Amino acid sequence: MDVLVTGGAGYIGSTVASALADAGHRPVVLDDLSTGRAEFVRGRRFYRGDIADAGLVRRIVAEHPGLRTAVHCAARVAVPESVARPADYYRTNVTGTLELAQTLAEAGVRDLVLSGSASVYGPAGAAGVDEDAPWAPASPYARTKAVAELMLADLAAATRLRVLSLRYFNPVGADPQLRTGPQQPRPGHVLGVLAESLRTGASFPVRGTDYPTRDGSALRDYVHVWDLARAHVAAVEGFERALDGRRSQAINLGTGRGTTVHELVATFAAVTGRPVPVVAAPRRPGDTAGTFARTERAAYLLGWHAERDLATGIADLLAWLERRPALLENPALVGSSR
Ligand SMILES: NC(=O)c1ccc[n+]([C@@H]2O[C@H](COP(=O)([O-])OP(=O)(O)OC[C@H]3O[C@@H](n4cnc5c(N)ncnc54)[C@H](O)[C@@H]3O)[C@@H](O)[C@H]2O)c1
Repeated sequence: MDVLVTGGAGYIGSTVASALADAGHRPVVLDDLSTGRAEFVRGRRFYRGDIADAGLVRRIVAEHPGLRTAVHCAARVAVPESVARPADYYRTNVTGTLELAQTLAEAGVRDLVLSGSASVYGPAGAAGVDEDAPWAPASPYARTKAVAELMLADLAAATRLRVLSLRYFNPVGADPQLRTGPQQPRPGHVLGVLAESLRTGASFPVRGTDYPTRDGSALRDYVHVWDLARAHVAAVEGFERALDGRRSQAINLGTGRGTTVHELVATFAAVTGRPVPVVAAPRRPGDTAGTFARTERAAYLLGWHAERDLATGIADLLAWLERRPALLENPALVGSSR
């Protein structure tokens, strides 16, 4: 089926588009290339523009009369930038999402799969978080994701829009076929820093060693981006069932297992065969002990569970970083807002 993928030139959206195409669907990408890469949409039906451009969105639907479903990945996603420029984040992630959802719904595209985020959740205990866990979004970015999700649920309750919000935990890795991956040469997240340590030999800073976790370092639920992409295919194909009788539904996408920073470092060393020198460092402001996903709902409603382990995610990221310069025309260029 035809599926609109907003943000389909970005890290996750491009992977989702590949998974949809591999499953026999026809992705149509809308992306303004603010952080996305033109190379990631080569060979795709691609429209360059803003999600809030109603005229463009109407044209896309008119040119693809089979469109009934959209996967909405487009957003601004850099937490520190959201602290410095909150208005830009609310404009894209909230207002842009509102404009997009309304234009799509008026044009007959009423089923929306939203890139949600586990960053909406508050601190959680050792049991992980299910979809009903309390929220406490800790940054402007996380708050825009929270508002967007609540807003879409309100629209779904009052209109013919239907929404599946997939709340990602910590995406890692790259497309296993290495068609796409993180755009940046040096991804800023913890695995990117580890890859940089491997490249330079510098010690890896473990930021925070006194968290209430099994070894004192922060814990995250790292989920392979290809597993995430597969979940979107399941959501698109089984939209009605995943709603489970509701107008909107939230579903966690994680592995159901937490990994501490020390465990991540050990796995990284095992994958590369090289020890990683670590150094204890203070907690980063705003960071939390972290948690992991309860994944029962994803299993029940999507028939989905993560299949790839962390070692595979690390290996795929490293392979991508090696392949990346050959695949990108100007590898030094990253999106304008990163
Ligand atoms: N990467 C993560 O750790 C993570 C975790 C949880 C949720 N998410 C969500 O997943 C989605 C994708 O994130 P990502 O990591 O792939 O980021 P990304 O920056 O790689 O992708 C976002 C894409 O959206 C495009 N875009 C931004 N503003 C736009 C606009 N106004 N109009 C059209 N296109 C626009 C960008 O050019 C980019 O291609 C986001 O909604 C993000 O909030 C990401």
